[in-house]
Amino acid sequence: MQDSQDYETASISHCDASEDKQLLSEHADKPARQLSWYRATWTLRNVLLSHLLTCLFVYLPVVYFAFQREASSQACDRKLSTWSPALDEGAVSYLPPAPFAGDILQTNKWRGEVGVTPSAEIDKAWTDIGVGVPGFRVSAEEVRVLGKPFRKGTRTLHAMPDGKGGYVAQLEVNHLLHCLNNLRQAMAWNYDHYFAGIPVRDVQIHHDALRASLQCTSDTTPVLYYDDAAIPQRQFSFPDFSTKHTCRDFDKLMGWTWSTERMVLWEDVGNSTFHQPELSREAREKEAQGDGPHGHLGHGR
Ligand SMILES: *[C@@H]1O[C@H](CO)[C@@H](O)[C@H](O)[C@H]1NC(C)=O
Repeated sequence: MQDSQDYETASISHCDASEDKQLLSEHADKPARQLSWYRATWTLRNVLLSHLLTCLFVYLPVVYFAFQREASSQACDRKLSTWSPALDEGAVSYLPPAPFAGDILQTNKWRGEVGVTPSAEIDKAWTDIGVGVPGFRVSAEEVRVLGKPFRKGTRTLHAMPDGKGGYVAQLEVNHLLHCLNNLRQAMAWNYDHYFAGIPVRDVQIHHDALRASLQCTSDTTPVLYYDDAAIPQRQFSFPDFSTKHTCRDFDKLMGWTWSTERMVLWEDVGNSTFHQPELSREAREKEAQGDGPHGHLGHGR
């Protein structure tokens, strides 16, 4: 109690009359002082200095942030992605944030009318983003960067047979889209059209590859729900799948696969170095009898 009273007394006495007088006299000669301040300010030196400061605090940050935006997404890619020549060769960039074209009621390039057998155009659209995309060559050094063994048990990396060296690779995105295409074909309503008479035992692996990838990327975008006054008979809300995403530019990436010096066409990749045509013939005959394995890796060959 005693302490706080002392404090109040002290702060009141601090604002004494002599200080007030000093403040008044300062105001009295203000115009003259303003003029000299003005002259002093607009010397050449100060003009240059102010330009320099503007440059430092306005232009440079703008330029910096413009570059930084691109640089930081590249840094992010490198930090969060496995090494890929697509990252090194500038094939990965981002589109502006935009909603998915996720409307429930729609058809598109990859999705036809309900109940209609998929057209050749739809099949082509899927091939064009899956196994229709070329592979690419990686060097031995790059295989080491990927942390992959050249030989493990009975398995050996497939070297390009054209004598130019290197090993064969493919973008994961094209593999996964191929998986999704296979599942599309294996759906009950499409099955007879695509797989009539052919035993399909490896659809599971495509299913599982997509599960693993979806869990790996774990997209955390909130999907909102809405109610439609035009459909009052509907009991439950609709999910809005047109969620906003910052997508990698897929078309640009596919442009890279077709234009990079690394490109290898699947027909030039050749057969397995261990391939024995006689055994292959036998296996086909067995398969025709209905109990051979139906190879899923072969890029449609
Ligand atoms: C690959 O294997 C197939 C089937 O056995 C054979 O017909 C073809 O000639 C082989 N291709 C090459 C490049 O060896």
